[in-house]
Amino acid sequence: MKVSVVSRSGREIVKGGVDLNDSATVADLQEAIHKRTKKFYPSRQRLTLPVQLGSKERPVVLSYKKSLKDYTDGNSDNLTVVFKDLGPQVSYRTLFFWEYLGPLVLYPIFYYFPVYEYFGYKGERVIHPVQTYAMYYWCFHYFKRIMETFFVHRFSHATSPLSNVFRNCAYYWTFGCYIAYYVNHPLFTPVSDLQMKIGFGFGILCQVSNFYCHILLRNLRRPEGDGGYQIPRGFLFNIVTCANYTTEIYQWLGFNIATQTVAGYVFVVVAAGIMTNWALTKHRRLKKLFDGKEGRPKYPRRWIILPPFL
Ligand SMILES: NC(=O)c1ccc[n+]([C@@H]2O[C@H](COP(=O)([O-])OP(=O)(O)OC[C@H]3O[C@@H](n4cnc5c(N)ncnc54)[C@H](OP(=O)(O)O)[C@@H]3O)[C@@H](O)[C@H]2O)c1
Repeated sequence: MKVSVVSRSGREIVKGGVDLNDSATVADLQEAIHKRTKKFYPSRQRLTLPVQLGSKERPVVLSYKKSLKDYTDGNSDNLTVVFKDLGPQVSYRTLFFWEYLGPLVLYPIFYYFPVYEYFGYKGERVIHPVQTYAMYYWCFHYFKRIMETFFVHRFSHATSPLSNVFRNCAYYWTFGCYIAYYVNHPLFTPVSDLQMKIGFGFGILCQVSNFYCHILLRNLRRPEGDGGYQIPRGFLFNIVTCANYTTEIYQWLGFNIATQTVAGYVFVVVAAGIMTNWALTKHRRLKKLFDGKEGRPKYPRRWIILPPFL
């Protein structure tokens, strides 16, 4: 089979095309493109079928697991695919590891080291119990996230653009320092003992629930599965589509009830905004996939992220 690999403008990416045997898969084609171009390893490549000029249709993205024959429309000798370079890629685990490592390491620096001397505070620093608990709570949270990244989540996409590492690290590392600076500050005023206990107690409960939500999400996919989507069920998923985001937001709320800083509340508002956006997309996708037609199950009526509001 002869495969022509062209850019969106029609320029040939692999001179003379690629010759493959009839049983070749899309993965074989990607390997062949890599061999010929050297630069474009498989996860950098996005291969689609050509669309008519001016057509508003979305191009069909070739799945690496499928045979090339599945895309030839009966004519098995020639195929043209459109190539797009997705840019340098990193694995999702690498991305998550680096974004979470920042807050895990940076926060304790503000607690343990005389950072505030550099900001002009010369007096003795008295550490309140709430500041100590906050440091453990914070570190537990990010340690849990790193562990979940490696041992719990079953991602559908193998890689993410390298540029996301810089964007996400900027977000997490900056917020980490911003909150750590105020919670560990020598002039920090603690809330009442009762408020602290309510905040941390509620927060821990939400962190444990968040972990359980991630276990339920994990069980929706088989280890060797194809990364498809299922209807999440059980525990809080019976009432809300993105129960993992709900518990994430509420656990930050618990942290803020206990520590009460403007920085912490700014973070929870920004994070809730981001997660709400994602939750709307995920809810829409599940409703579309499970539309109740042609034997497909119908997605049950559920809140999206923050019952009883949304
Ligand atoms: N503080 C913040 O700013 C913030 C922001 C975002 C996330 N987080 C935390 O980080 C955690 C992970 O975030 P995330 O955005 O990666 O979570 P997510 O996409 O909702 O889910 C985690 C894993 O479960 C899979 N999954 C989700 N829905 C599924 C379904 N219906 N069927 C099968 N698998 C499904 C996802 O697959 P895919 O690989 O296909 O997506 C992903 O691997 C969150 O739960 C939250 O605790 C915090």
